[in-house]
Amino acid sequence: MSTPQTESKRNAGYQAAGMVEDGMVVGLGTGSTVFFAMERLGERIRRDGLSIAGVPTSYQAAIRAREYGIPLTSLDEHPEIDIAIDGADQVDPAGNLIKGRGAALLREKCVADAARRVIIVVDPTKMVETFDALVPVEVLPFASTSVSRRLSLLGAVPTMREGVKKDGPVVTDNGNFILDCSFGTIGSPRDLEAKIAAIPGALECGLFTAYGEKITVIVGEEKGCRVVS
Ligand code: 5RP
Repeated sequence: MSTPQTESKRNAGYQAAGMVEDGMVVGLGTGSTVFFAMERLGERIRRDGLSIAGVPTSYQAAIRAREYGIPLTSLDEHPEIDIAIDGADQVDPAGNLIKGRGAALLREKCVADAARRVIIVVDPTKMVETFDALVPVEVLPFASTSVSRRLSLLGAVPTMREGVKKDGPVVTDNGNFILDCSFGTIGSPRDLEAKIAAIPGALECGLFTAYGEKITVIVGEEKGCRVVS
């Protein structure tokens, strides 16, 4: 069923797909908004003969890309990516992001880092003045308890992410667990990202604060969209 939020996501995704040029290597994020971008890229490939190669950030993204007829490659083959398209859970005015509801944050950060340009596609509910969403942290299963303790010392309330049936931890594509961390309002996302990165066994967190300069945020509206940075 189409809702105003779905239309917003579709408009953002389609706009981002229009920014991809022939011959580009494209980072393919994970999530409902970026899947609209993939849908449109698939149309452009079929209809206009657009030639691209996608680097998927998850098995889910790879499956979707194949369904839409997007040829795939890997980060190993293309350690430099022309443009990455991805979603976000929150975006602040400086272009910092919280990502990871789809549990793909580790590969998404690798791809964002490798990309010359990053297009973030969101609906208006994701735009905030100050971060207050859960920060997902991908953790090495071996160290999940010690990492959880260290995160608590940073002020977090960490919760192991479980599947819908609540019958065990979610396991990421990399074989790790996710701790969803409530920090309340986050005053300094950059400092927090650095502190989490310093915990052994915390493999990556959903705070993306290093890429503001190469990020363009497309906010989809029910009709059309706006580019905010
Ligand atoms: C996955 C992500 C997603 O991009 C983020 O959760 C947004 O998803 P959606 O577009 O479905 O709202 O970070 O790890």
